This record gives sequence, structure tokens and C-alpha cells, in this order.
Amino acid sequence: MYAIRKIQEDLVYVGGSDRRLSRFENLFPIPRGVSYNSYLLLDEKTVLFDTVDDSISRQFYENVEAALAGRTLDYMVVHHMEPDHCSMIVALLHRYPEAKIVCSAKALTMIAQFYAEDVQARALVVAEGDKLSTGKHTLHFVMAPMVHWPEVMVTYDEPSKTLFSADAFGTFGALAGNIFDDEIDFDSAWMSDARRYYTNIVGKYGAQVQALLKKAAALDIEMICPLHGPVWRGNLGLLLDKYQKWSTYEPEDKRVMIAYATMYGNTENAACVLAGMLADCGVHKIAMYDVSGTDVSELVAESFQCSHLVLAAPTYNGGLHPRMETFLNDLKALNLQNRTVALIENGTWAPVSGRHMKAILESMKNMTVLDGTVALKSSLAEGQLGALAALADEIAAQLAE
Ligand code: FEO
Repeated sequence: MYAIRKIQEDLVYVGGSDRRLSRFENLFPIPRGVSYNSYLLLDEKTVLFDTVDDSISRQFYENVEAALAGRTLDYMVVHHMEPDHCSMIVALLHRYPEAKIVCSAKALTMIAQFYAEDVQARALVVAEGDKLSTGKHTLHFVMAPMVHWPEVMVTYDEPSKTLFSADAFGTFGALAGNIFDDEIDFDSAWMSDARRYYTNIVGKYGAQVQALLKKAAALDIEMICPLHGPVWRGNLGLLLDKYQKWSTYEPEDKRVMIAYATMYGNTENAACVLAGMLADCGVHKIAMYDVSGTDVSELVAESFQCSHLVLAAPTYNGGLHPRMETFLNDLKALNLQNRTVALIENGTWAPVSGRHMKAILESMKNMTVLDGTVALKSSLAEGQLGALAALADEIAAQLAE
């Protein structure tokens, strides 16, 4: 049975959610599932904005058919060619033989790469500033390369002041009937997934997100329809403010995250002692993670939130503990910048993990590594408590500034 919701007088939500998929992109755990949003405009011409992942194809077919109510599909706007949105394109073209694809030139190239079907004759290629009138509505196409792939564009619908934003402003998390931000408690129930989605999926492309935000600022937007998560019509400023910080790599909070790797608990012990010292210095909301037991996407999200990081890791095979190395390489790949970092290294015969962590951090932009790396030889020694306390004092003083 179809499960659709009216968004505006002539705009219908025809997407759906997957609660069975365990990892998005076969990479990121999604215990709360994910939605694949698709929207159908019922103007003089009918327009479908993106399709869905084929895992929810049955629901999608029923939704589109019900929303069309016997009408044909005239246009299918393809904003983004990642298969979580494009995997139903060819099937829809077969089902609706009059439908034309509206997409960027790069998207058309990608369609040919993904699918054997020749869609050239059914494609309307649009570029920055192009418009398409569908009757009462005029669609404005705005290119948004690298948010999240190079072919991405977004669409602004002039009369309804709606931005169809592709992956931008999306989040992990399945929808449960309530599809609008003002029907859910986004800040408490969704924000951590939104942060994890943004930082891990789009985090690398801050400059390109900034370019899109600048274009969006010139538009009068009352509603944002992303490809994942709720439709924004209530507090648009909530997520826009976060996007501004995330895309400029500005910490959300003056706060410290301690991330440690440990083999037998000795490095963990030093991290715990430091956490206690920080708390004694008046530092609140300390976050602490074992990098071996925490998905790296969570570590990345927390790193985008906090101003200060403490990284503690043993030496391993003459280098850095592999889980810490993976985490740091991920932070570097995602372009994290502007953080202050303190280091604790460990090693029983030749500690070098601090040097390795520092080398990765120094290859990133605007990362300040505090002097006074605490070098453990197997375990924290009584005589090292002073060095750890000095580190706690310095971090606490900076957080209090
Ligand atoms: Fe939701 Fe980049 O795809």
C-alpha cells in the first residue's frame, strides 16, 4: 500500500525509509535507518525530484503511482547520481515512457556509466541559471558540484520558495510518518545523526558547501526538501547555523574529546587520569572514546564538534596503533582544521606513536599540537603525574578563555 504525504498543495512526498540496511554506503552504521526522499510536483506538468534506493522500490512504485493518480510523469529531475537516489531511474523511464530526465551534463555522463540504457534522447541537460516552467511553477537549476559529487545540482522552485537540496541538509535516520522538522525533536533526537552524516559524507567539501550556502543566501527559501531526513519548514536556521560551522571547520563547542587506543589498559589509564584532572580543573562535558570500540564515523563527528582533542595511543609495529592511525587519516581526508591537540604516547621499548600522530596532524591545516607530549613507557609513572597535570591545566585554561 502507498505511504505518501502532502507537503504543499501540489507537492507530495513519495520516498520511503530503510530500517534493515546496517551500513550506509556499506561503510557507516545506521542503527536508526535512513530515508530516501523523493518528491512529486503535480503542476500542469508532473515532475519527480529524484528516485530512491532500489531496496525500497516496491514502496516507491506504489507511492508514485498513487500520487500521480492516473496522470503521466513528464519530468524526472536527477539532482545526484549516487545510487541511493538514482537506482530507479531506468525502471521509471520504462514505466513512464513520456518522462524526460532533467539533469546536469555530468549527471548524464554518469547515467551512461552506471546503466547500459541509452537515455540521451530523453534527457534535458540544464546548466547554472537555467529555468523550466511546469505551469504555475518555475524551476531554477543551481549547480552544486561536490555537494556531494561533481554532477550535483539543486533546484529552487520560485513560487513555493522551496529548495530541493540534494544531499545537503540531509541526515541519517528513518522517517516515521512525521516528515517535517516541526513534527519531530530534531535537536535532541536527530542532530547527532545529522552531524555524523554531514561530517563523514560531505565533511571534506567545506569550500563547496560554502559556495552553495552563498548561492542559497541569495534565494528566499521557506522550505528545504533534502534527499535524506526531514523536510525543513520550521526552524531552518537550526541546521543552517550548523552547516556554517561544519563547512568552515569551526568547532561547535569549546569542549574536549579524549580519544585513546589501548592494548592492555595502560594508555586508557593515562587517559582516565587526565580526564579526572581536567574535571578537577572545572572542565565540563568531557567526551572520551576508545577508538577500538567506537565506529570511526562517531569519532569524526565528535571531532567536528569539539575545539580540543587529546589523542593517546600505543606504539604498534614500530608505528602507530592501527585504529588511531585510521581515525587520524580519516580526519585528514575529511579536511578537519582549526583544532588544538594534546598527545599521549606509549611504548614499552621504543615509543614512537607520538611522532607518528604529530606527523599526520602537521600535514593537516591549522592544527595546533601542544608542547609537552606525555611519553609513557608501558604505563603511567608516578613521576609523570606532574606532566599530565600541566597538560590538563593548559587545556582547561584555553577552554576557559
Ligand atoms: Fe544520498 Fe550522495 O547520496
